[in-house]
Amino acid sequence: MSRRTEILDEMGLSPRWTLREGFARTLPTAAPGTVTGTPAAADDASSPDTSDTPAAPAAVDAQGRATAIMQMDWTPLAEAVAGCTACPLATTRNCTVFGVGDRKASWLFVGEGPGAEEDERGEPFVGQAGRLLDNMLAALGMKRGDDVYVANIVKCRPPGNRVPAAAEVAACEPYLHRQIQLLQPKVIVALGKTAAVTLLGKEQSIASMRGKVFRYRDTPLMVTYHPAYLLRTLPDKIKAWEDLCFIRERVAEWRAGAAQDAQPPG
Ligand code: URA
Ligand code: SF4
Repeated sequence: MSRRTEILDEMGLSPRWTLREGFARTLPTAAPGTVTGTPAAADDASSPDTSDTPAAPAAVDAQGRATAIMQMDWTPLAEAVAGCTACPLATTRNCTVFGVGDRKASWLFVGEGPGAEEDERGEPFVGQAGRLLDNMLAALGMKRGDDVYVANIVKCRPPGNRVPAAAEVAACEPYLHRQIQLLQPKVIVALGKTAAVTLLGKEQSIASMRGKVFRYRDTPLMVTYHPAYLLRTLPDKIKAWEDLCFIRERVAEWRAGAAQDAQPPG
């Protein structure tokens, strides 16, 4: 069996992924560029206001709501999401899906939005794609709840699993932003294009974003393929594996750097 076949086999659907020592180093990874992305909201804040007219009431309301969300601790934040009616997805959801995991996590994985099973259970990534995500984490020696937090761009299921509309994403963004502020993760991993494009405020393909370090406000952000996409496109699993190994190396470097900075001089 060729090495590539062996690797793909190992990453197949049925057996769990297993991490082999030195494996990541044998695979080519994209050059580690550092690119600073500009989140959409920061763009808005920095663009000069050229109008003399006061903001429309809806915009004032949205601003007031976002400001209130930014003051919330975990419990009020979770309650606000549970009762949220800020966008039309509230009318079709069963459960809101707040996010789950270690509130001191170094790793924050961000998906697109709940699917049918998540909408039933109120937890992110519990369907087939979620099982693949859990297997990928297990292969890295990680699991949700232990230094890992999992959330989505929108907290309510878009009907038929359609991509969330821009207005829905905009209405929901303050919740994720506040989750990120409270978590202060070492890295955000955007799973798939919706998460990546939303968090970076820039339309780009996953292929062009892999292997680079971006930023969401002050937090390093890296991207990889969405597990649901990987279920449909098995050969790209190897790329997702490369991405996760690359990200893990960066996190280890930052940890080592932070530990060194904390040493007293001399
Ligand atoms: N897909 C997502 O993006 N998020 C989930 O929670 C489940 C599937
Ligand atoms: Fe509120 Fe977000 Fe659900 Fe829309 S998707 S109703 S903004 S929690």
